[in-house]
Amino acid sequence: MSQLFTPVRIGRHLAPNRLVMAPMTRSRADADGVPGDMTVTYYAQRASAGLIITEGVFPSAIGKGYVNTPGMETEAQVAGWQKVTEAVHARGGRIFMQLMHCGRISHPSLLNGATPVAPSPIKPEGQAWTPAGQVDFVTPRELSLAEIAGVIDGYRQATRRAIDAGFDGVELHAASGYLPEQFLSSGTNHRQDQYGGSVEGRARFVLEVLAAMVAEAGADRVGIKISPEMNFNSITDAAPQQTYSYLVDKLRGQGLAYLHVTLFSAAVDYHALLRPRFDGTYLIGGGLTQDSAEAALTGGKADATVFGNAFLANPDLPERFRQGAALNAPDRNTFFAPPTAKGYIDYPALAEAKAA
Ligand SMILES: Cc1cc2nc3c(=O)[nH]c(=O)nc-3n(C[C@H](O)[C@H](O)[C@H](O)COP(=O)(O)O)c2cc1C
Repeated sequence: MSQLFTPVRIGRHLAPNRLVMAPMTRSRADADGVPGDMTVTYYAQRASAGLIITEGVFPSAIGKGYVNTPGMETEAQVAGWQKVTEAVHARGGRIFMQLMHCGRISHPSLLNGATPVAPSPIKPEGQAWTPAGQVDFVTPRELSLAEIAGVIDGYRQATRRAIDAGFDGVELHAASGYLPEQFLSSGTNHRQDQYGGSVEGRARFVLEVLAAMVAEAGADRVGIKISPEMNFNSITDAAPQQTYSYLVDKLRGQGLAYLHVTLFSAAVDYHALLRPRFDGTYLIGGGLTQDSAEAALTGGKADATVFGNAFLANPDLPERFRQGAALNAPDRNTFFAPPTAKGYIDYPALAEAKAA
């Protein structure tokens, strides 16, 4: 019997299936970080997911890292998101907001001229996506201790706003080389104070942010995403197995809604390393197919499975899997395409595809 269509506990909520929509930046917000009506439609179309995790949302303006990404700081941003949660709930869905602070993966042109912030002033390799196209990253500014407290409080306040706007929970984006992983990783964190050095020091920021989010939402409405050894955004760590073992040991016993682990061609099987250390709902993602997801569930390797590309291109993915129907292919050219509807809300559901 298929496990994909059995219910699963996500903290305070019971999801009717084990198909989770991955957080995906789509760059369709306005210049002020406000999500509009197309975004309401996009998420409502995907409400049959067991759980939707939104695109990365900056908790405060200094955390923005890409053009036309949304925030959760101003009244207009909150009002835009409230329409999203209402529409998803009206269709019977559940939705968590992913809080994403990009840290050094940004550019002054996205920050009203301000220099991006990071644990240490180490310039990433590569280029930022700015209003003027792709430009080299700059050397970030090292956060002071007082500023770190402010950043953590920014996550706390964004969590409060998300819950007030009707979100069912929040996810801390601690993957993909953004600010939390910049603290966690030895290659990007050269601090000598309590937020650097040993693994205890490097993990402190992530754990304190999580604690601030838990204080507002309750642990059973807070999840965390990690991606060990993804090596995206020029992140490196000298001993990632030790780093992530330590972190997950600290997550255990907190009563979190879930741990979300995305792997891409890591040499080590981090699921085998990390899952036994965690005591809650374990989400896996990264290149899954219906078959590999089913196998992971029946093999006891995960409690729920996360799909990115497939949900992006198939608003009715659970129904397609149920029927064994063909999938729409994602169009990479329209992944990030402000402000167009093309490739955003025009992927057909099965019935529409058949009618056409
Ligand atoms: C267009 C696009 C945007 C993404 N943006 C985010 C993001 O904002 N936050 C995040 O945690 N992951 C982001 N990801 C990664 C996905 O959450 C997911 O981990 C990845 O797509 C692998 O799953 P898949 O192979 O099923 O697509 C993005 C992926 C895509 C394709």
